[in-house]
Amino acid sequence: MSEPSVKPPTILVIDDDAEIRYSLSRVLSSRQYQVLEAASGEAGIAHVKKGPPPDLVFLDVRMGGMGGIEALQHIRSINPKQLVVLMTAFGTAQTAIEAMKYGAFDYVMKPFDPAKVLALAENALKAHADLRAVGDYKPTINADDYREGIVGSSPVMQDVFKVIGQVTASDVTVMITGESGTGKELVARSIWKHSHRAAKPFIAVNCAAIPDNLIESELFGHEKGSFTGATGQRLGKFELCDGGTIFLDEIGDMALATQTKILRVLQAGEIQRVGGTETIKVDVRILAATNKDLEEMVKAKTFREDLYYRLNVVRIRMPPLRERIEDVPQIVDFCLQNLVKQKKARVAKVSAEAMALLTRHTWPGNVRELENVIYRSAVIAQGDAILVKDLPVEIRGNVALGAGEGSAPPLAVETATAPAAVHAVPAAQETPPGGTALTLEAALDVVFARLADDGPLLPQIEKALIARALAADGNDEAKAAKRLGLTKAALQKRLKE
Ligand SMILES: Nc1ncnc2c1ncn2[C@@H]1O[C@H](COP(=O)(O)OP(=O)(O)OP(=O)(O)O)[C@@H](O)[C@H]1O
Ligand SMILES: [Mg+2]
Repeated sequence: MSEPSVKPPTILVIDDDAEIRYSLSRVLSSRQYQVLEAASGEAGIAHVKKGPPPDLVFLDVRMGGMGGIEALQHIRSINPKQLVVLMTAFGTAQTAIEAMKYGAFDYVMKPFDPAKVLALAENALKAHADLRAVGDYKPTINADDYREGIVGSSPVMQDVFKVIGQVTASDVTVMITGESGTGKELVARSIWKHSHRAAKPFIAVNCAAIPDNLIESELFGHEKGSFTGATGQRLGKFELCDGGTIFLDEIGDMALATQTKILRVLQAGEIQRVGGTETIKVDVRILAATNKDLEEMVKAKTFREDLYYRLNVVRIRMPPLRERIEDVPQIVDFCLQNLVKQKKARVAKVSAEAMALLTRHTWPGNVRELENVIYRSAVIAQGDAILVKDLPVEIRGNVALGAGEGSAPPLAVETATAPAAVHAVPAAQETPPGGTALTLEAALDVVFARLADDGPLLPQIEKALIARALAADGNDEAKAAKRLGLTKAALQKRLKE
């Protein structure tokens, strides 16, 4: 038996302009690609339908007959995973937006810079290979395990879950501490949901968000005329929450006078409305949270010691995400499942390289930051998985765009016998004709659209340019510095940074 030959990736160029087809084919076949051509949207669709699908399609937007956007929709409905790059000489916001909306991998402006076209093809095929490699990824745990809404199998989180289980049977006050975004409110809700008070309300009050002069009225209500603006009687959260659970979030920000009144609720189970004389019995369980150091505050006499002991009967310390980094894959999985369920994203997987970066980050904003990163990445991801290129720059760090996904082997693809309107172009070995370069303005449009959400532009661009220059000069720092217009020392300084 003969060795199976590795077929070069196939690229289908769909354009009604023969000259564009010719020059694009020459550029692409200067590499190991096999190029096919189609002279209309209809012919291109016929080719994709007949299969096997090309690895990549370059598709013109303005053509006689069916336009590119319409052809794109047809092609993607035949093969939802088909990679398509749209090309146009007339960039408008609308076409660019529509192109991406209907699932194009990228959108480029004519005339092309051959080097850019080749880089684009390479990146696209790379993403294609990465998406395949993600393959049939299986979630780490099944939907049932996620019912709780709190995810984590690290020992520290298992301990948290155990304590939650222990405090649900009684009405004991629980103090939940931890950095911002670690899930304090989530834990409070979980305690309530599992308690005998689950059928009664859960009310969260953010003590830091309500001005001191209003918080008492918010918590305990007020009588008509008790202060300017109190035009009628109003019930406070404690009365509204009768039989339920109150979550006093950021309790370290509560004024001393109010602290005294909370102590009274805890000791006697009673309140008084602001401006009222009547004592009202309330049956409310109190859960509290803070990211402040209450012990220090007690020492500094800014937090009442007696209240501190009353609240701190059971303490749950939420570990920062960096202390339970092994939970990241599960939390990511959970976020993606939720996003898909809420129809906010279609992406359900993450490539191994992207996941590796996610588990290397230190997550100062904890789970909230992770959720945010996953949301942003899922929205811009084009296939069915988040790849390194989709991650925000603070996570991606120095990993170059399109080069982060490991070294995938070249694609082995079967090529079809070309239908009438589609013919294979013989691989030309000459260097491509020097096409007119993409204007700087057009290139910047793309850069702006791509990087706008990833933070300040200049540092991102500088980093990418330096990486490019080094790669172009085989990591020769002297040459790269010259290309960049820097002294070698200045380049080295930036590299160190
Ligand atoms: N273990 C977890 N599993 C899944 N989602 C989580 C987990 N921990 C936190 N989250 C999510 O992260 C976000 C932040 O959680 P939460 O609001 O409970 O944090 P917090 O500690 O109260 O933060 P802050 O101190 O800023 O108020 C929420 O959207 C929550 O659903
Ligand atoms: Mg909170």
